[in-house]
Amino acid sequence: MSNVHGETCTVDNRVALTEVPIVVPPTDTLSQLEGGDVLVKSFTFAVGENEHTLISGGNGIGKTSLARVIAGLWPVWQGKLEVPESSDIFYLSQRAYLPIGSLRDQVIYPHSYAQMKAAGRTEAELMSILEKVHLLYLPGREGGFDTRKEWKDVLSGGEKQRICFARMFYHRPRFAVLDDCTNAVSSDVEDRMYESAIQAGITLLTITHRPSLLRHHVRQLIITGKETVGSQPQYNLTSLAQPATEHERQTLDAEIKQLRRTLEIEVPEWKTRLNQVNADLSGKRSM
Ligand SMILES: Nc1ncnc2c1ncn2[C@@H]1O[C@H](COP(=O)(O)OP(=O)(O)OP(=O)(O)O)[C@@H](O)[C@H]1O
Ligand SMILES: [Mg+2]
Repeated sequence: MSNVHGETCTVDNRVALTEVPIVVPPTDTLSQLEGGDVLVKSFTFAVGENEHTLISGGNGIGKTSLARVIAGLWPVWQGKLEVPESSDIFYLSQRAYLPIGSLRDQVIYPHSYAQMKAAGRTEAELMSILEKVHLLYLPGREGGFDTRKEWKDVLSGGEKQRICFARMFYHRPRFAVLDDCTNAVSSDVEDRMYESAIQAGITLLTITHRPSLLRHHVRQLIITGKETVGSQPQYNLTSLAQPATEHERQTLDAEIKQLRRTLEIEVPEWKTRLNQVNADLSGKRSM
């Protein structure tokens, strides 16, 4: 009998693990019933809508493995996994996958062209998606969306990752698990892609080694895994400072303007007045 006792439930608005271990699937048949190497004994955390969470930790600690459990590729040995239905959650892996097919197929995968048309999606829409990932030049350079090539050989590392990001914009999921999938993209473009994703209402679970991405997230989950000493939890979830809202930014800008005005105009006026008063006083004293 198998030792897989966990359950997976489809929910509306969150990704949550309750006491779920991260276990590498073993290769031999006997231990397949028992599970293999335990990376994290028990994970409990939930990501609700807009709780963009950055997941970090050393190489080989279990970040991609956690993504595989959330994606249902690895078993939930114990506890409970709650995930939205598959059309509401999107996964981008560490290695960009480019299917055989046209340039259009790269953006709409796993949709076919027939599915794209049936869904009423247009080429103009694909262009605006490519603009978001700074690949607007690609259809022109490659001779249109129908062009078929060995895309994995034609596109640069950063272009491949941006195409995969475009795929996420095309599918418009409510949640996305992004596993180190922008490490070949320059930081400025990466920032703009993240801003667009958040604006599109996608809740992000980002696995990355880049601290610069922290600014797009509200929480950080650090996995310490096997490095953890004693009975400490093998991960740490912390809240990050919230980015300022538009209203807060405007209020601070107004305050800065007022302070500058005071420093540049009023303070020199006060100084002049002080000098006048001092001069008057010393004149009266010497009378
Ligand atoms: N299919 C597999 N079979 C056996 N071992 C695996 C398998 N997948 C991962 N592992 C092992 O599990 C451990 C965790 O791997 P994982 O890919 O989750 O690390 P990671 O935290 O994503 O690291 P990185 O930052 O390098 O991407 C590693 O020791 C890895 O070798
Ligand atoms: Mg990984």
